[in-house]
Amino acid sequence: MTDVVLDGVNKVYPGDQHAVRDLGLRIRDGELFVLLGPSGCGKSTVLRMIAGLEEITSGDLWLGGTMANELPPRERNVAMVFQNGALYPHRSVRGNMMFPLEVSKDDPAGARGKVVELARALGLDSMLDRLPGTLSGGQRQRVAMGRALIREPSVFLMDEPLSSLDAGLRAELRVEIAALVRATGATTVYVTHDQVEAMTMADRIAVLRDGILEDVGTPEQIYHDPATVFVAAFLSSPPINLLRATAWAVQDQGVILELGPHQLRLPWDDPRATGLISHHGRPIIVGLRADALTTVTGPAHGPELTGQVRTLEFHGHEWLAYAEAGIALVDAHDVAPERAAVPAAAHQLGLGDRMRAMLGRPVNDPDPGPEHTGHHRRTDLIFRITTGDRPARGDQVRLSVDLDRLLVFSPDGRRVDPVRR
Ligand SMILES: Nc1ncnc2c1ncn2[C@@H]1O[C@H](COP(=O)(O)OP(=O)(O)OP(=O)(O)O)[C@@H](O)[C@H]1O
Ligand SMILES: [Mg+2]
Repeated sequence: MTDVVLDGVNKVYPGDQHAVRDLGLRIRDGELFVLLGPSGCGKSTVLRMIAGLEEITSGDLWLGGTMANELPPRERNVAMVFQNGALYPHRSVRGNMMFPLEVSKDDPAGARGKVVELARALGLDSMLDRLPGTLSGGQRQRVAMGRALIREPSVFLMDEPLSSLDAGLRAELRVEIAALVRATGATTVYVTHDQVEAMTMADRIAVLRDGILEDVGTPEQIYHDPATVFVAAFLSSPPINLLRATAWAVQDQGVILELGPHQLRLPWDDPRATGLISHHGRPIIVGLRADALTTVTGPAHGPELTGQVRTLEFHGHEWLAYAEAGIALVDAHDVAPERAAVPAAAHQLGLGDRMRAMLGRPVNDPDPGPEHTGHHRRTDLIFRITTGDRPARGDQVRLSVDLDRLLVFSPDGRRVDPVRR
């Protein structure tokens, strides 16, 4: 049983760089656990603390029920594949994979057998005598995995092992890696900033932002029931519509969400309505994914938004459309909870303050525009076209809203209704 438990873990680098804050995670034995987040959020730092390559500033690390803060790396039975995992260039594939067994002075005959067996599982058996320089990027990465797995670690750590490969190879290898690590039974922590990789590979995902855990759950939980605006936006392709709205609690109706010229109603028996009571008359953020909006014609059967199509995009398996609907959109990058001095994100603190000020305006005010944010600000509602009849640019469209999939967030980006985990 090698579960990995982080309890209130902090990492402060010299220069007061607070890279990881109060991190609490319980990674289960045999789980394929993905740490997901943008560059600089602390993913590698967490991995390196688990491996024993980085000291833990405060908090506790438990490996298989043993307190591991002070345990030397070699006593942790942990193996790691690095972001730019280098191989020994003058050793063959076999020599690279054999190396850890030579170091631990395994019986040579047994070691050779092990290498052949693992090479077969990794699809490397036909290239055991080749040098790394003669291999493709994907093959080299598999050798690096082989070298890490040969000692049969109980915890296997992978730091963006596919980031240097092209998209096609990444898609292929992520399937192989997931299958392989599941077959080894090792508890695996896999770091990536790629939401597709995270969603497709993980048993569970933890989303980090600025060293803080934003959410943790299965891919489905995190996608359908995200804890914050940041998580909803990070795990959304096409991008989720984040809309500025005002909540109005009306006694015999429920909560009316005012979105520019539109209104949507959440009845009182809806937990989102209850959660919004304290936001009465105040700005909130409404999240609607592209596939929660469907074009409709004929009589109205439910809540709708209307807009004018400005852009159509062909994506092969579907069309995406962008419509101007008179609703101001929110950029997830600008929404940050109030935190005591988040170091690496001084610029974001400024933005957060400005965002709060912006959200405090009446909703029909013009969008303040993209100045200083450094991010492209989308102004149109995005939706998928699923029916045969495709609207043309300039058409007015009616969009039926799947209210069950509507997410409501407070202005600082937290869900107003309870997240189910
Ligand atoms: N040795 C160090 N000294 C000081 N600061 C550091 C050190 N290593 C990392 N940091 C800082 O800690 C924060 C987290 O870094 P980390 O490498 O863990 O991020 P990451 O999520 O792995 O990013 P990436 O996706 O770019 O690899 C960053 O702000 C980084 O600049
Ligand atoms: Mg990293």
